[in-house]
Amino acid sequence: MKISIGSDHAGFEYKELLREYLTGKKYTVIDEGTYSTEPTDYPDYAAKVAHRVVGNEVDFGIVICGTGLGISIAANKVKGIRAAVVSTAFTAESAKNHNHANIIAFGSRVNTIEEVKEYLEIYMNTKESDALRHVNRVKKIHDLEG
Ligand code: RB5
Repeated sequence: MKISIGSDHAGFEYKELLREYLTGKKYTVIDEGTYSTEPTDYPDYAAKVAHRVVGNEVDFGIVICGTGLGISIAANKVKGIRAAVVSTAFTAESAKNHNHANIIAFGSRVNTIEEVKEYLEIYMNTKESDALRHVNRVKKIHDLEG
């Protein structure tokens, strides 16, 4: 499994911890930055992760900012991206099962790192539903891209 991960300065510490956590589990992790707590702009890292995902270079992406909001909004501007902000076990499962999210977003000012690891595991261990209603809804999302 190959994963692209990126954050802004607010998500930097969580990115470092998640990268260590995932490499410890023998996953291949591409670290897209940022590489310090120096203030920076979350769209830059959203774009790097999103392009890896739509280019099929990785299985999925992880993005982190203070809330998970700005960085997911930015990632969703890239055609083919379904980035979902996750802050509970339920939203982690639904993001994959219902929404077929190909990027999962976290807020470092919203959840603890232990919660984030738990939700990431749920997301990774959940399958995309092949129920027609979900497949049709995901298709309709991409029809909006024009
Ligand atoms: C940075 O202060 C903060 O605005 C950013 O990390 C994020 O929460 C934006 O949505």
